[in-house]
Amino acid sequence: MATLLKGARSREAHAHEPTTKHTRIIVTHYGGPDALQVVEEERPEPRAGEVRVRVLAAGVSLPDVMMREGIHPETPSLPFTPGWDLVGVIDRLGDGVSAFEPGQLVAALPVHGAYAEFVCLPQRKLVPVPPGLDPGEAVSLVLNYVTAHQMLHRSARVQPGQRVLIHGASGGVGSALLQLGRLAGLEMYGTCSSRGAAAVSELGGIPIDYQHLDFVTEIHRLTSGGVDVVFDSIGGTHIWRSRKALRPGGKVVAYGLTASLNPGRLASGRSGSRHRFRAIAIFGVYIVGGWVLPGRKRVVPYSIQTLERVRPAFFRQDLTTLFDLLRQQKIKPLIAQRFPLAEARRAHELLGSGGVTGKLVLVCDGASQ
Ligand SMILES: NC(=O)c1ccc[n+]([C@@H]2O[C@H](COP(=O)([O-])OP(=O)(O)OC[C@H]3O[C@@H](n4cnc5c(N)ncnc54)[C@H](OP(=O)(O)O)[C@@H]3O)[C@@H](O)[C@H]2O)c1
Repeated sequence: MATLLKGARSREAHAHEPTTKHTRIIVTHYGGPDALQVVEEERPEPRAGEVRVRVLAAGVSLPDVMMREGIHPETPSLPFTPGWDLVGVIDRLGDGVSAFEPGQLVAALPVHGAYAEFVCLPQRKLVPVPPGLDPGEAVSLVLNYVTAHQMLHRSARVQPGQRVLIHGASGGVGSALLQLGRLAGLEMYGTCSSRGAAAVSELGGIPIDYQHLDFVTEIHRLTSGGVDVVFDSIGGTHIWRSRKALRPGGKVVAYGLTASLNPGRLASGRSGSRHRFRAIAIFGVYIVGGWVLPGRKRVVPYSIQTLERVRPAFFRQDLTTLFDLLRQQKIKPLIAQRFPLAEARRAHELLGSGGVTGKLVLVCDGASQ
């Protein structure tokens, strides 16, 4: 049975007793950060074909916030544990597991469920992590960098010298796009608020303050002709404006619904499913518009979870490539802040208030720095 813990109380009082319990975060209702509760309960047991992972680091991302609000297309029914991405150590094997051993470091993209000390996952969902990597940096690759890498190289198929516009360029996925775009030899422009401008410049992008400038006008002024690709994380009617920043024959890769959140990105108070279908319908209209309108400007959708389900080998291959780049120090994820797992609510409050540069990470006992 799960026990609700008030706030961030830890298990310090029982530190000397062997425990079979663990801490997990649950969303009790769709809404603001107060929807996140800390529970203590029995550790899950792996079923046949599953592996139990002791989580070292779980990423906190805008898709987690959108699920908490109930507006993300992948939102599970209540109550649920958020957390798209994790890195941890294999702790116990279910029957029939042969590909992994206890003690091995692994990563996974469960889409939800990572905000917990122990998680059971099918072995096919796990990707080995090379030894020696920092769990917080490694977990930053699982959602943000795989998303960025696949959009650059599988959706847009960028070529050196091409011009790209990255929206939300100082955020989690945006900063990953900048780092990987620089390695690919791209000329990069990035929308951000004034708080993120220095980080965007440092990562090789030309910042455009979206709160004070019209990015379409700015892009045409700076490039005389438009960009080859726009990465649009904002969604809704914003996709239309992104299309206007393209040169003829260019492409918008549409991958986010940030516009679905209210300014301040806190509780929307809107019904989840109705809003979700509206946002997806707008996506559809723009994709079809890209085919039929003049200018040969296409809008293509991207979804990491859809691609992972349809082509799991791509996810495994791309994440392994990215771990290699991290090992060689060719990329360096920006970690804005690390929080203990039980302070997930504080991490959501911070992400919701905006201006976070890079990734927020939850760390479990023993992995905290
Ligand atoms: N399709 C996929 O597979 C996939 C995978 C991962 C993420 N996503 C989506 O990607 C988006 C970003 O996620 P994230 O975790 O990287 O979020 P994040 O770290 O919070 O970054 C979002 C960034 O967007 C900026 N921003 C907000 N409104 C903007 C606007 N109107 N114009 C330009 N920039 C704006 C924010 O800047 P300020 O805070 O400074 O205003 C922030 O830096 C979300 O919509 C998420 O759902 C999609």
